[in-house]
Amino acid sequence: MCAVLAACHLPSDARSPADCLTLLRGGFREVASERGARFLGKVEEATAGCRGGARAVRYRATPWVDWPNYWGTGDARSRGRRGTSEDRRGIEGALLDLEYQRLELIAFNLLDNDGTYEAYVQGRGSLPGPAIRTWPELRLAPGHASYAAVGGAGEQRCHGELVRYRTLTGICNDVSNPAMGATGQRFARLVDFDAAFPELGAEELARSRHGDRIGLMKPDPQRISRALLSRGSDGDYRKADTLNALAAFWIQFETHDWFSHLDEGRNGPGDRALFADEAAPRRFEAGGRSRLSRAPRTTRNSVSAWWDASQIYGFDATSLRRVKRDPGDSAKLLLVTAEADSPGYLPVLDARDPMNPAWAGQEATAFPDNWNVGLSFFHNVFAREHNAFVDAFRAQAQQSPLADCGLRDPDRPGELVRYRDVTSDQLFEIARLVVAAEIAKIHTLEWTTQLLYDEPLYLALRANWDGIFEASPLVSKVLAQVVGRLGTPSGGSRANQWYSVFATGPGIVGLESANHFGSPFNFPEEFVTAYRLHPLLPDVLELRRLGDPNVVRKRVPAVETVRGHATASLREAGLASWALSLGRQRAGALTLDNHPRFLQSLPVPVSRSRSGQVDVPALDIQRDRERGVPRFNELRRQLGLRQLTSFDDFVDQRLPPEAPERRLQLDRVRRLREVYGQHRCDATRPITTAQLAADGAGLNDCLGHPDGTLVDNVEDLDAVVGFLAESTRPHGFAISETQLSVFILEASRRLFSDRFLTASFRPAYYSDLGLRWVNDNGPDGKQWEAGQPNGHHQEVSPLKRVLLRALPELAEELRPVVNVFDPWARERGEYYALEWRPRPGAEADESFRR
Ligand code: HEM
Repeated sequence: MCAVLAACHLPSDARSPADCLTLLRGGFREVASERGARFLGKVEEATAGCRGGARAVRYRATPWVDWPNYWGTGDARSRGRRGTSEDRRGIEGALLDLEYQRLELIAFNLLDNDGTYEAYVQGRGSLPGPAIRTWPELRLAPGHASYAAVGGAGEQRCHGELVRYRTLTGICNDVSNPAMGATGQRFARLVDFDAAFPELGAEELARSRHGDRIGLMKPDPQRISRALLSRGSDGDYRKADTLNALAAFWIQFETHDWFSHLDEGRNGPGDRALFADEAAPRRFEAGGRSRLSRAPRTTRNSVSAWWDASQIYGFDATSLRRVKRDPGDSAKLLLVTAEADSPGYLPVLDARDPMNPAWAGQEATAFPDNWNVGLSFFHNVFAREHNAFVDAFRAQAQQSPLADCGLRDPDRPGELVRYRDVTSDQLFEIARLVVAAEIAKIHTLEWTTQLLYDEPLYLALRANWDGIFEASPLVSKVLAQVVGRLGTPSGGSRANQWYSVFATGPGIVGLESANHFGSPFNFPEEFVTAYRLHPLLPDVLELRRLGDPNVVRKRVPAVETVRGHATASLREAGLASWALSLGRQRAGALTLDNHPRFLQSLPVPVSRSRSGQVDVPALDIQRDRERGVPRFNELRRQLGLRQLTSFDDFVDQRLPPEAPERRLQLDRVRRLREVYGQHRCDATRPITTAQLAADGAGLNDCLGHPDGTLVDNVEDLDAVVGFLAESTRPHGFAISETQLSVFILEASRRLFSDRFLTASFRPAYYSDLGLRWVNDNGPDGKQWEAGQPNGHHQEVSPLKRVLLRALPELAEELRPVVNVFDPWARERGEYYALEWRPRPGAEADESFRR
């Protein structure tokens, strides 16, 4: 369908007008009700022609999604002719494709592991499964400290202090399902339970898919790490186009808020995964097939899944003991300083703090594992932000102690709360709410738009936060019609699909209630896999000094800035110089052959490994296998993406035959084949139920090749290796399209499910000042960048505002910076340019000479 139907008559190349007409006659595409009918990100020929002309049509034959070949979805060269609607057709077409993907992900990829899946499939009484809103499995258990407070054995419902702030363990975010998202709940799955744990060989299809070729150590993770993941030995690395080292540490900082499999940095005995369930799950019949009620094994998320800044504030009683409050003002976090005029730094863990011995000498914070100078940087910056909010609130309270501060006590909602009534403990909790929401906003609007640096994703992410009406009224109108054709919205999954679309109307902010799309919220295992982004890290950090920003003063091996060394490094150079250094240095590109060397032989406490070192990329692969993440090709099919039929599919067909980059990709294909091997295929062996061939037939071991052909063992490819091998990426994407599919669903869910980012995102919970602070990116009103970067009138970014408050000495350096995660000295140029060129004033920066 052409989003701007009326404008389809404006052609840019010979095919467009006829294509747009065909498209118009064909009407809207149905949203799939069977997995075999999924969209796969592939459109009809006429649709491609209407949205991107001959170029978009040409690449339809590849397995990769079509929208990146539409007009306007790349840099200036991708744009259609001026004065035509081509760019709009391309960009809005891309937004529609992404929304179809999201609808299908909601319909097919929500699999809860906490015991609710059977009800999701079968329904409860007359209620269709996806319309269920409360689950007995998410009640607090009798031994829980808040059991009686939420209603004990009767109906459980949170109230009073339990709903007023974010709770330590994340209980009561959903008032009627107290345990949802709380510390210790099980990770969900994005894939059919039967498709998980192929290594166990318990399932016929998995056995056909992989023969006897895979296992926990097959192919050998260490060999994969050395043969396919290693960076060159000279410390040099392949650099991300538009991401800096701050972006690398930011995402580690964030993942520590969302998920962890370890308990205080430890695995089970013998370094085995900490499984919650290992006994065979029950089966049930539904829709003519037998299904598992949960995955064959499950693990727990040892932190709260909510976007609650638990890496700073804590997620259980042990982590809370590391969170230090300021004895001088207990609404504040403790920052210590030797100098009177400095806000200071987080204190170091001391002997009374609960800690893994590996953490000795590093800062006291709730989530201390895998600590490094970048994490230290963000923890310190947000501790300062917390305290800045407390100061501003106190200043207001001093000025107008009797004024209504906007807060309400949930037990007495009719009564005003005056500034002077707010206790220090309450103010601490409000500051936490504000900081957590700011972080969610930075992540959604600033980090992700830089990670996925193109116009459709810029608009899509804004739509998640502010609403698609603002981003694109036309797309929202077309979507409403598409979904309208689904029938009445009373059916379960249909109700969710409706909701998803309408939620993109107002965005999360201002929604009347949270929504879980019919399945309790927790992150899936596959989400953790998609965030294994270790190649982002450089091996050597380039230290600069504020005042002399173009010169690299010192090259510091990253390994000398981890754990206890982080704290010393941070304090020695100071926060501002680290901001400058990590802001100017580029992150590593997320490709094969680019894992940091220091992580391949990371020193660890001897108890974890006899050699005293671990190979983290090898461990990444091993852990995914241990936790039953399907291998790459089946994961793609499960996510509604087209499968690969050979390693050659990884070569980007858009590159000219002689391009050096293409030769590099061909060499990688050769090495993938060497490590993963080939076999003679057997067309009688079906391998999946998740997808059908183009002719509607089932898929077999030959993946479309003639029976008996020698085929690549593409089925065995580990998910992370596949992500990194994906070189056909949408413009400006640091990650792959397969990872994006995981995020499309989860990036929405972690916002829409969270009461404090939807129904309770109100002054009654945040205070007037708090809400304004989040909406305006600070206490002093909205601020705007000069000009129109990438064609948009843009607010000064939320992280830039945070940095300017914490480190005002960065003002000059940050002035030209539009997105804090774009290398600070890079010229952003026009329309999503990726070139590595200095901005005015940074010509002397030595990184442009290399
Ligand atoms: C100096 C920096 C870093 C160090 C030393 C480090 C170290 C490690 C180690 C040792 C593990 C394995 C834990 C285990 O399963 O036993 C791990 C897991 C992981 N790392 Fe990193 N890492 C660093 C940076 C990053 C960054 C920048 C990211 C980007 C998102 C990242 C994402 C992850 C993820 C997603 C896991 C899996 C977590 C889980 O299983 O719950 N790490 N890291």
